[in-house]
Amino acid sequence: MSSTANENANESKSNESFYKHHVFFCVNQRDDGRECCNQHDAEGVRGYAKDQIKKLGLSGHGKVRINTAGCLDRCEEGPVLVIYPDNVWYHYVDKDDVDEIIHEHIQHGRVVERLKI
Ligand code: FES
Repeated sequence: MSSTANENANESKSNESFYKHHVFFCVNQRDDGRECCNQHDAEGVRGYAKDQIKKLGLSGHGKVRINTAGCLDRCEEGPVLVIYPDNVWYHYVDKDDVDEIIHEHIQHGRVVERLKI
């Protein structure tokens, strides 16, 4: 490969997102009484989301990745998740909300306005 072709290949690699949807669930736990996402079972809901994404065959490079995150500093709005590179933040209450986010946003590219923060 010529150096120009190599540079072009590297440029196109750096411009594409490794995952189409990279989803971060805050699972921060605080034990001092302050608001935190894990007091709403964020870890359990994240596990559910991960299982659903796998079941739907959506996980992997170029597709979807579900990750945990520490505090995302939106504690009062929690529990929260954020989807990159879309940069869309959601508050959810339960697994039904996560199902809706998976179905609408991840599978069909439609932002769920009622859950968006
Ligand atoms: S504890 Fe989840 S955003 Fe801070």
